[in-house]
Amino acid sequence: MSRMTNVANNLPEVGLNPSFTGFQCVICGQEQARNFADNVCPTCGVDGILDVVYDYDRMRSECSGAGAFASAGAGGLWRFANMMPVQPTAAHTAWTLGDTPLHEAPRLADHLGQKQLLIKDDTCLPSASLKDRAAAVAIAHARLLGVDHLACASTGNAAASLAVLTARAGLRSTIFVPAKAPAAKLAQLLLHGATVVPVDGTYDQAFDLSLAEISSHQWYSRNCAHNPLLVEGKKTVALEMGFALTRGFRGHASIWPDVVLVPVGDGCIISAVAKGFAEMHQLGLTPAVPRVVGVQAAGASPLAQAWAGLDAGHEKLSGKEIQATIAPTACQTIADSISVGIPRNRIKAWRRVAATGGGFVAVSDETIIEAIGLLAARSGVFAEPSGAAGLAGLLAARDAGWVRAGDTVATLVTGHGLKDPSAGLSGVDLPTAVPPLPTS
Ligand SMILES: Cc1ncc(COP(=O)(O)O)c(C=O)c1O
Ligand SMILES: [Zn+2]
Repeated sequence: MSRMTNVANNLPEVGLNPSFTGFQCVICGQEQARNFADNVCPTCGVDGILDVVYDYDRMRSECSGAGAFASAGAGGLWRFANMMPVQPTAAHTAWTLGDTPLHEAPRLADHLGQKQLLIKDDTCLPSASLKDRAAAVAIAHARLLGVDHLACASTGNAAASLAVLTARAGLRSTIFVPAKAPAAKLAQLLLHGATVVPVDGTYDQAFDLSLAEISSHQWYSRNCAHNPLLVEGKKTVALEMGFALTRGFRGHASIWPDVVLVPVGDGCIISAVAKGFAEMHQLGLTPAVPRVVGVQAAGASPLAQAWAGLDAGHEKLSGKEIQATIAPTACQTIADSISVGIPRNRIKAWRRVAATGGGFVAVSDETIIEAIGLLAARSGVFAEPSGAAGLAGLLAARDAGWVRAGDTVATLVTGHGLKDPSAGLSGVDLPTAVPPLPTS
């Protein structure tokens, strides 16, 4: 394992949250201690994704009282250090980020016939996608372990977040990316100094290659799809929403979402969002748990298809039954970031979504392109296709009965439109050029 350089040693120290007790396999339920060195369950293998387990009684006492959400690395996502597995002792540009805007979008709500729409705009993060939340935790955890080389497979955004934040931290990164990833995303990786390995295949194939290389070089795995600590970083998008809507967890929320719409690829973001809302409620910080609805592109929709194939009882399935219910699918969609045929966190995502009373829907590429235009023109937020998929799922979620017109709906915008402008451009007509003024 490559050890920290002098540069990286300038990163502030990082400790473990005393409330973080260990891990539990989503299939067999086997528990592991918090110093467990592997990423997946030794019995269930690669599908045996682990969930991070906390002592909630201890967490409740740490989250009560003045100063509970003003810890050392404070600001942005580390405000919630008491609900996270790792805890930096001070702020650093490589891991202090977050506090993204939560807009009300009345013009968009009116247009769609929805009482109230909230937009959580994670395009404002340093690499312009929500993935920075996971990368921030990866950098902090790598610092704790003393590892200076991080790696991942990515459809583009997780890679960009790793490249940006390792550049800030003075660490090294190697990234396995499908050769077909949009040029803007590849530019981000190369310019921030990552070693890029384009894989002539799908994201799923890039993922498998990355696991083999990570294990042989003993790099830190920033693959959120199987590193459970990173999913906790993504949880902070929900915690920020809860914090903002309850005026710092201090009281009654005058606006509270009935439903949260989330784009789904590997299922990490949605697992994290549902977990975050459940934990805030369990700790008595927020009024209710919204129904969490996952939105997939129709051309890559294993979760939505499996969900629709079952009449009832989604919440009753065991890990093994969920595993057997979700068949891998081929992928064909313009939404490259959610073009995933085997969602690695599918069991966790299914179970956590079912517990909120939500579900999964699929939307066509045309609907996604329309949603990009609506978000841009009626709320001033520019999303890449996957970033707009949550909003695109609104009408499908209404058809499924998970959203009523009188509900308050929140949607996450997870990636910036400038990462893949060609998709947005396909929904508009470019005006014809006019001649300039004649020269005198
Ligand atoms: C912009 C964007 N939205 C949504 C997702 C889906 O996240 P997850 O793979 O955690 O389901 C991704 C993942 O790459 C993404 O980049
Ligand atoms: Zn297991």
